[in-house]
This record gives sequence, structure tokens and C-alpha cells, in this order.
Amino acid sequence: MARRKKVYEGKAKILYEGPEPGTYVQYFKDDATAFNAEKRETIEGKGVLNNRLSEHFMTGLQSIGVPTHFIRRLNMREQLIRQVEMIPLEVIVRNYAAGSMSKRLGLKEGEALPRPIVEFCLKDDALGDPLVTEEHIAAFGWATQQDMDDMIALALRVNDFLSGMMLGVGIRLIDFKIEIGRVWEDDYARLVVADEISPDSCRLWDVETDRKLDKDVFRHDLGDLADAYSEVARRFGLMPKQSFTSGPKLVH
Ligand SMILES: Nc1ncnc2c1ncn2[C@@H]1O[C@H](COP(=O)(O)OP(=O)(O)OP(=O)(O)O)[C@@H](O)[C@H]1O
Ligand SMILES: [Mg+2]
Repeated sequence: MARRKKVYEGKAKILYEGPEPGTYVQYFKDDATAFNAEKRETIEGKGVLNNRLSEHFMTGLQSIGVPTHFIRRLNMREQLIRQVEMIPLEVIVRNYAAGSMSKRLGLKEGEALPRPIVEFCLKDDALGDPLVTEEHIAAFGWATQQDMDDMIALALRVNDFLSGMMLGVGIRLIDFKIEIGRVWEDDYARLVVADEISPDSCRLWDVETDRKLDKDVFRHDLGDLADAYSEVARRFGLMPKQSFTSGPKLVH
């Protein structure tokens, strides 16, 4: 049997050539990395959870007309996606201060921001994905001013939708990161949400207890990461139901 062609292997996922031109199969690994891959571990089940959760968020976005690369889930660890021309930026939306923003600006973790703030970081592991300004992006040609305006609008739509989805299950969306790609239609490029949306790329806190349900659990050794991600999946009704047998039970 012909083996399929690996196109790219990253830290969390593998891309394979898809069954039709213009598609990829995205495989979710169990590997977790943090602090620019200085900390790494394998967490059993993480890939399965992220595949399912990313499907859930991407299909939700599509249902309100936000374009994404997601086509369909193929199995527990793989989804079929549309191949896009990635823009080499991470687009971050922050609702509450946390992580690098807290550090940089001396803000308390969890402090509400005056409004959602969109940041761009250059996707470059060797440089540690540095924060860049629109001036840098335009000058170096990573994206046009039009792209940037469209990326901000897209990211804010994703933020509104995801924030609402999360609140509905008792989770506060502190911040998240998306990656965006271009799909070419004749001479026009359309921007679509690509990569993944999962607890690897979001900060999620329980509304009542502030329990962290995202990759910070791994970054700061706060407990079992798979437990935290399973809790998110459970709240969205994505975990297999426990089977309760009805009828008489033996009493020992
Ligand atoms: N629809 C898509 N078309 C093309 N490339 C994509 C698409 N969706 C995601 N990618 C890219 O595939 C890779 C997914 O692998 P992974 O997230 O594991 O990489 P990574 O180790 O985080 O490295 P990177 O810094 O490149 O993201 C990323 O480089 C991501 O930008
Ligand atoms: Mg990645």
C-alpha cells in the first residue's frame, strides 16, 4: 500500500497530503510543548481531545458564517482541512490580562482589559514568536494593510462567538491565538481561520472557581492536562456518555 506523503511535522500536529488536491489531513499528536519547546511531554489523549474540540469550535464558527479551513473529521485523531497559504503571524485576542501581556505591562493575571485587544506575533520559533506592530508587518511584507484590517475583524468575530460559547458552559475566555491563511479565488484572496482552536491555543478559566482548563495546566504544573481538556469536552457534551444499565441490579 502506498504510504501517504507527510508534508510537515510540527510540535503538536502532522500534515499529510489529502485525498484531493488542495486538501491536507491534519493529525493531532499527544505531544505538549511550552516555553518555546523547552518543556515537552507526551500527554495521552490530548490529540484526540484537541481534534474533537477544534472540530466543534470550527464548525460552530462556520455556522455563523466565519470561514475556516475545516472540512470534516476523519477519525479520532485526524481531520480533513483545506490547504491554505499561511500568513506567518499569530493573531492573539485578549479579554483579560494573562501570560506575556501581564508580564510586559505589569497587569494582574485575570484583570479585565478595557476592551478586547488584538496583537500580532511573528511565527518564528527561533526568535520566540516576537510581538510585532502593523508597521513591521507592512514593511516586511508579511501581510498587507488590508489583510491586517481583515484579520482584526475576523479575530474579533471569533472572539465574540467563542466567548459566548464558553460562557454558556461556565468558562471565561481569557485570551486565544489563531492562525489565518489565504484561499485564492481567481485573483482574490479570502482569509480563513486555519490551524486549530483548542485548549492548547486558548486560556480558559472556570467562571466560578477560576480553575484553569487550558495549556497553562501543563506550563505551570497545575495538575493533569488531559483531565482539564476532558472537562472542557464534557461541558460541550463531546465526551462519550457513560452507559447506565436500567433494570434490576444485583445487591451484594
Ligand atoms: N490549512 C492549513 N494549510 C496549511 N498549513 C496549515 C494549515 N493549518 C495549519 N497549518 C500549519 O501546519 C502546522 C501545524 O503543525 P503544528 O501546529 O504542530 O506546528 P508547530 O510546531 O506549532 O509549528 P509552527 O510554529 O509552524 O506552528 C503549522 O505550521 C500551521 O501553521
Ligand atoms: Mg502550531
